[in-house]
Amino acid sequence: MKTGSRLSGLRCRACCTEVAAGRPVGTCPTCGHTLFATYDTSGWDAGSWWRSLAGRSPDLWRYRELLPVAESENITTLGEGFTPILDLGEVEGASGLRVLAKDDGAMPTGSFKARGMSVAVSRARELGLRELFVPSAGNAGTALSAYAARAGLRARVYVPERTPPPIRAAIRSYGAGLVEVPGTIREAGDVARLREKGRGSFDMSTLREPYRVEGKKTMGLEIVEQSGRDGLPDAILYPTGGGTGIVGMAKAFEELRGLGLLERAPRLYAIQPAGCAPVVRAISEGAPRVEPWENPTTLAPGLLVPSPFSSERILEAVRETRGGGIAVTDREIVGAMRDLSVRHGVSASPEAAAPYAALPKLLQKGALRSGETVLLYLTGTGLIYSMDELEGSLARDEPGTRGAGSATSAAV
Ligand SMILES: Cc1ncc(COP(=O)(O)O)c(C=O)c1O
Ligand SMILES: [Zn+2]
Repeated sequence: MKTGSRLSGLRCRACCTEVAAGRPVGTCPTCGHTLFATYDTSGWDAGSWWRSLAGRSPDLWRYRELLPVAESENITTLGEGFTPILDLGEVEGASGLRVLAKDDGAMPTGSFKARGMSVAVSRARELGLRELFVPSAGNAGTALSAYAARAGLRARVYVPERTPPPIRAAIRSYGAGLVEVPGTIREAGDVARLREKGRGSFDMSTLREPYRVEGKKTMGLEIVEQSGRDGLPDAILYPTGGGTGIVGMAKAFEELRGLGLLERAPRLYAIQPAGCAPVVRAISEGAPRVEPWENPTTLAPGLLVPSPFSSERILEAVRETRGGGIAVTDREIVGAMRDLSVRHGVSASPEAAAPYAALPKLLQKGALRSGETVLLYLTGTGLIYSMDELEGSLARDEPGTRGAGSATSAAV
């Protein structure tokens, strides 16, 4: 059965090259940047479509017309999406703000990475691919492993050797190949591309294939649908590593605006750890692209991305929504994890807790104003982490736990 997808092609935003979407393709053949899916919505009654969503199943495939999979038999699902938006009530250090939290810890495999992998693996299956690989700080690898298993495809995951043991165990548990690489995700990516060359496998790296970002787009679609017209947050605080999440949300708002379904997009704020904040630095300096961060260090594995690919798109997403960025220390991140679980009953991974830690800082800077509604994007569950271990490594002042008083830590 047809899904009704309106996918019309792929387009590079850097050089405007257009590419047909009917065969597997990674980056732009002209300039090497990210390709993005385009949809033909001419003559489409988007208003009726939007109203009809209420009767659909509560998962991200409810938006199938704006997703890239043409045949429903290729949809590879574990029931992902439509996660709750929680009202956190009183939040210390954030009085005057209404604070909401969208909890993707409730996703299959425990993080928002399931969104991108569900859509990208479905599309890979549709295009006849058999073997997929990804360099990952962990969560994307777990998600790829699960969805590849569900689709009957083979997966290999290249992780930095410091990836937490429970994440490595999860990847193996789905039958995927696991390769541990010294260094960060950057080195894992280099080794992965070298080792996979000529094997006929397909690279699922962040922003190096077009469809994971389509899955991430559903974060923005859900926020708009679940908030209703009047309840839309003024700002979204998002823990930014490789950047697909923030780029995906911005794409959602752009498409909804194009369809006349949204008047203004919430401001997007990139939150990064002080020991690895290349995006925040670029925002504060007004730079056109992100320069690599030297000696990156943080205990939030998914945010240890010193040199994000296609970083122009991340900066665009922040600037076009009139948002910003700020860095938080690892100590603040662990404090936020504790507060979220003890005061609010919400379990957050170190990455996911970073936006909570950023709240008082953004208020103090005047980036958030009293009376505004702020949504914290909780990207993953903290249940696989031991608070004792995290607090122990802070006490020992291990690499990755220092507050790095770098010039970027106060950037907005
Ligand atoms: C829990 C969690 N949050 C945030 C991120 C960063 O995501 P993005 O690539 O969308 O910037 C990651 C990436 O690994 C992650 O695992
Ligand atoms: Zn290009």
